[in-house]
Amino acid sequence: MSTTKKEVKKITTNTLLQMKAKGEKISMLTAYDFSFAKIFDAAGIDVILVGDSASNVMAGHETTLPITLDQMIYHASSVIRGINRSLVVVDLPFGAYQSNNDLALASAVRIMKETGAHSIKLEGGEEVIDSIKRIVSAGIPVMGHLGLTPQSIYKFGTYSVRATHQEEADKLKRDILLLQQAGCFAVVLEKIPAALAKEVTASVAIPTIGIGAGKHCDGQVLVMHDMLGINTEFKPRFLRQYLNLNELIINASKAYIKDVKSGNFPSDNESY
Ligand code: KIV
Repeated sequence: MSTTKKEVKKITTNTLLQMKAKGEKISMLTAYDFSFAKIFDAAGIDVILVGDSASNVMAGHETTLPITLDQMIYHASSVIRGINRSLVVVDLPFGAYQSNNDLALASAVRIMKETGAHSIKLEGGEEVIDSIKRIVSAGIPVMGHLGLTPQSIYKFGTYSVRATHQEEADKLKRDILLLQQAGCFAVVLEKIPAALAKEVTASVAIPTIGIGAGKHCDGQVLVMHDMLGINTEFKPRFLRQYLNLNELIINASKAYIKDVKSGNFPSDNESY
């Protein structure tokens, strides 16, 4: 009897580079637990991001700042158990890399060792280049993140579109080249003008993954709670909502409550 399992072509950082070279768009969604990761992987998503947006959508915090490295490791190790094909990227949370390169490497190593994830992501350009080089030199793939970087929300003061002024746009153009030189395999571009995203996407060989950065990025990412309509209060212009899961869950919960109250559930067939 043959015991060979059906071979699955896993997505690697190299696959993403080839996709950019071929003009094939990259799909990325966030996930924070086993069950949703399994569904997205089965649906054929290329990349799953265990985002520090878990701080908002899973823990109910206003910002991404409070989530800890231990909590990210918990989410990432749950996600990885649901994955068969997708590439898994895990955010280094605020405070886990900013102070020095040793800390950055130690945090990245913990994520790789304790979760089995395939890569990490961190926010920033020139300011974090040495940390990126150190992590990459240890053999850990790094995804960059430019534009709106939510871990710096108290520096920006708002979640509005970034790099609308020349000086910030010029810095972003320099930063993406530095990220590429430092060895990043891809870069998230969050909430920047579409024309700027188009220009910087054309300036590098590594793929750009946009969120609120227009159609010329090499791929797109959305937070799962936003695109599935679990979160109904957050409606930025860039968001396309594919489902109203909030309404579906409320209706299902109401039907269940009604059945329990009326004695309609469980029936004899649902009993032992
Ligand atoms: O944490 C996150 O979900 C992210 C995406 C918005 C790119 O960084």
